[in-house]
Amino acid sequence: MSTAAARACANIALVKYWGKRDPDLNLPAAGSLSLTLAALTTSARVTFDDALDRDELVLGGAPADEPARARLSRWLDIVRDRAAERRFARVDSRNDFPTASGLASSASAFAALALAATRAAGLVLEPGELSVIARRGSGSAARSIFGGFAEMDPGTRADGADARAWVLDHATDWPLCMVIAVVGGGVAKSIGSRDAMDHCAATSPLYRGWIESVPHDLAAARRAIEGRDLAALGVVTEASALAMHAAAIASRPAVLYWQPPTLACLTAVRRLRDAGTEAYATMDAGPHVKVLAHAADADRIAAELAAVAGVSDVLVSGIGGGAELLA
Ligand code: PMV
Repeated sequence: MSTAAARACANIALVKYWGKRDPDLNLPAAGSLSLTLAALTTSARVTFDDALDRDELVLGGAPADEPARARLSRWLDIVRDRAAERRFARVDSRNDFPTASGLASSASAFAALALAATRAAGLVLEPGELSVIARRGSGSAARSIFGGFAEMDPGTRADGADARAWVLDHATDWPLCMVIAVVGGGVAKSIGSRDAMDHCAATSPLYRGWIESVPHDLAAARRAIEGRDLAALGVVTEASALAMHAAAIASRPAVLYWQPPTLACLTAVRRLRDAGTEAYATMDAGPHVKVLAHAADADRIAAELAAVAGVSDVLVSGIGGGAELLA
């Protein structure tokens, strides 16, 4: 039996990843740039064990459903191939944030799993290689290997060995926060990001324009980060999210993640800005609204968002570090 455990933080893309150049290898069509969040983490333990006759997955203390188990098992094959490991694994993964909220956890989960599974299989890999392995589980997970601002390079190689993230800036001197308005309650789970982006690429007349806009947004975001300019970073953050959602909404049939409280939160963020608070919104493959701001403004923004009808919870996070091994 050999075992290892690791923890990784979630990340929120400021310049979004939405579209693949190779769906099988999960290779992105364009780059992306994210902020790692300290308050949203996944801890995962992986144990390769001779006694198992198939991979086992426990999520938050309960056995996972078969599609999740099978997805993990296919991903573990990548680690097994790399390490010449023949044994099946027992995997125990838990989030320290409410999973029921529907907040994406695949980024923190596959980043933690990449570190834990490779170590349990006897491999010691540098972060760039871990990022490549994490990407095979979930594109956004490639960025969660790193803390601070991470940038994902789409790479050009057919095998994806250069499609990896790196730390753009640890930003330990820049007190930013992300305030997350959880929009919830009783709405059927919408289409997952993986299927949605493929559908968008295949059917949305706006998809090509979206992909073409990404390099410009990345350059603007890098400049803003280098200059510690929240207003400039915020403008590109909101624009990237809205362009991604515009392309998704124009898919046929539409991929529409927004609910009425989503739009109400966007309006609240504009109101805050009009009143002088630097606050900028982004949304992912779900109805929640995440607001980038100065840490000093977190309480004011959280109070404003909590007052929006349909917001069930508000979480606040500072900037997180990279994936790390646990004892
Ligand atoms: O990596 P995935 O399949 O979870 O896709 C992530 C897609 C978005 O969250 C919408 C954008 C992003 O860059 O994280």
